[in-house]
Amino acid sequence: MPAEVNEEHSIYWVDGAIVTIDQRALPDDLRWLRLTTVEEVVDAIRTLAIRGAPAIGAAGALGVAISVLRNDNGWLDTDAVHADAGRLVAARPTAVNLSWAVHRTLHRLPEGPAAVLDEARSILALDGVVNRQAARRAADLVERLCPGRPVAALTHCNTGRLATVAGGTALGAIHHLYARGVLRQVIATETRPLLQGARLTTWELREAGIPHRLCIDSAGASAIARGDVDVVLVGADRIAANGDTANKVGTLPLALAAAHYGIPFIVVAPESTVDPAIADGSAIVIEERRPEEVTHHAGVRVAPAGTDVYNPAFDCTPATLITAIVTESRLLLWTGGAWPVRPIADR
Ligand code: MRU
Repeated sequence: MPAEVNEEHSIYWVDGAIVTIDQRALPDDLRWLRLTTVEEVVDAIRTLAIRGAPAIGAAGALGVAISVLRNDNGWLDTDAVHADAGRLVAARPTAVNLSWAVHRTLHRLPEGPAAVLDEARSILALDGVVNRQAARRAADLVERLCPGRPVAALTHCNTGRLATVAGGTALGAIHHLYARGVLRQVIATETRPLLQGARLTTWELREAGIPHRLCIDSAGASAIARGDVDVVLVGADRIAANGDTANKVGTLPLALAAAHYGIPFIVVAPESTVDPAIADGSAIVIEERRPEEVTHHAGVRVAPAGTDVYNPAFDCTPATLITAIVTESRLLLWTGGAWPVRPIADR
């Protein structure tokens, strides 16, 4: 592994290639991939070798840089680069970070290959910085909303350093709370069907020595009902202009439970996850994935052959259920309607 790959980040740009942790192999195998073609980048994003909204954004930007390198034969075939950019954006439809980063990089194409590479590298370099900032601000908010006690936080899917270039979003906030001595425990949901929580979040929490328990997704609401959770912290894949938020499927039931039992439900994301072009959540495209992810477990069929499947990868939580959305530059607090039902500080 090249010297600059020091495992602090999950994605690197090394000599014209993307070097990244293969998230499919975790938790047992910390394997690095070296991607040198657009096809390999698209495949890595589709198969979740690279996953998490900010991480696929950075990979998409670097994918455009790879396309430019490969289509520069003394003259730049810009049609081919545009076609590659289209393939990258289409790899996964829900997280806006992917199209945001690809289009931002593509925008520099008229300035030539060096400008494209420069843009992609700056997206890569900035991701960790903005996530750390958002995570720190979210931790500040949790301390304000849950004063005077070490908190138990519930989180869904994986929003840690693996899901970003570095730092993490919701899991980053959890790291901050732990470092400040105000975190009692994390409850991590397993995140069916691809187990990002069981495989990746527990791996990151263990690596950091943060006390945690893993639960099945359907136990999340009961943990909240029993008073075992003080705050729910999640990431986001696309935030509409009105605050409706698409995130890993299973987020909505947690938000409903948090609202019902009067605990804060906080979304942590970089500004690149906000999509001002989308008025509300009804317009967010929700990715549907292969039926085998549901009918099979560890490669073995568990449902009768031919069973029809509903397998959305994400769901959309209405803004009215969200206590706050925290980015690196904004703190959006829900103040309208009937929510919060009772003041959070009363708990
Ligand atoms: O399908 P995935 O694993 O890419 O889904 C990831 C999530 O839903 C995350 O919560 C989201 O991308 C935020 S990651 C900081």
